[in-house]
Amino acid sequence: MANHAEKPAIKLEGLVKRYGSGSSAVEALKGVDMEVYPGEVVGLLGPSGSGKTTLLQCLGAVIDPTAGRITLGGDVTFDDDWKISDLRELRRDRIGFIFQAPYLIPFLDATENVSLLPMLAGKSNKESTARAMDLFKVLDIAHRAGARISELSGGEAQRVAIARALANNPPIILADEPTAPLDGKRSLTVMSMLNELAVQYRTAIIVVTHDDNIIPTFKRLYRIRDGRAHEEAGEGRSFEV
Ligand SMILES: Nc1ncnc2c1ncn2[C@@H]1O[C@H](COP(=O)(O)OP(=O)(O)OP(=O)(O)O)[C@@H](O)[C@H]1O
Ligand SMILES: [Mg+2]
Repeated sequence: MANHAEKPAIKLEGLVKRYGSGSSAVEALKGVDMEVYPGEVVGLLGPSGSGKTTLLQCLGAVIDPTAGRITLGGDVTFDDDWKISDLRELRRDRIGFIFQAPYLIPFLDATENVSLLPMLAGKSNKESTARAMDLFKVLDIAHRAGARISELSGGEAQRVAIARALANNPPIILADEPTAPLDGKRSLTVMSMLNELAVQYRTAIIVVTHDDNIIPTFKRLYRIRDGRAHEEAGEGRSFEV
């Protein structure tokens, strides 16, 4: 269904994840095939317990897949075993995570929460702060840059978390229910921002969601059923927000 000249930012082939062993083993993923291209925001849907979080965690090198192959930006990172030695570097520089809750550092201000990551990756303080400010402008929270996390609203904190996920300009963003704490209008705002950011930075974004409100925004989505991912065309509607 996807027809792209570029090579995928994310490619999964026959990804299997089994938890435990013997009679208590759970095979959460039974052979997932998936491709996500630079600049695309793809939905990942499926009932509770179908393996959505497991899939993101395998992709993000948070847990070890059992078998199959993962290719990120043309590099095979997993082929029945990890093919790269520094998984921490992979998580820090190549993948941005957005969770249901923002998980920000409460005693730092909004800018410091975002600039920390580029600084850890070796960028100067000045460059890292400038990067945070650029993202805050896109996300419409530049006016809250100096605020402590405890002074932010839920929606503002979530936008700081989105800025943090983009801080090192990762080619891949993995978002697990990013709009769950937001109201309908805010959810659509976040989705339109993610779409804008995907295009602007050529980022490939996977959004796990149960949120009926945002499902019409996806141009393409996968539903996990019986441990496999089934591709569907979405409505790809953009909303004026
Ligand atoms: N650490 C674990 N050990 C054993 N089984 C696990 C573990 N994590 C998840 N599972 C099982 O794997 C399956 C997939 O779980 P997963 O969390 O990926 O589902 P999900 O689609 O994200 O669900 P939800 O929509 O509720 O977040 C479930 O049957 C779950 O119980
Ligand atoms: Mg989950």
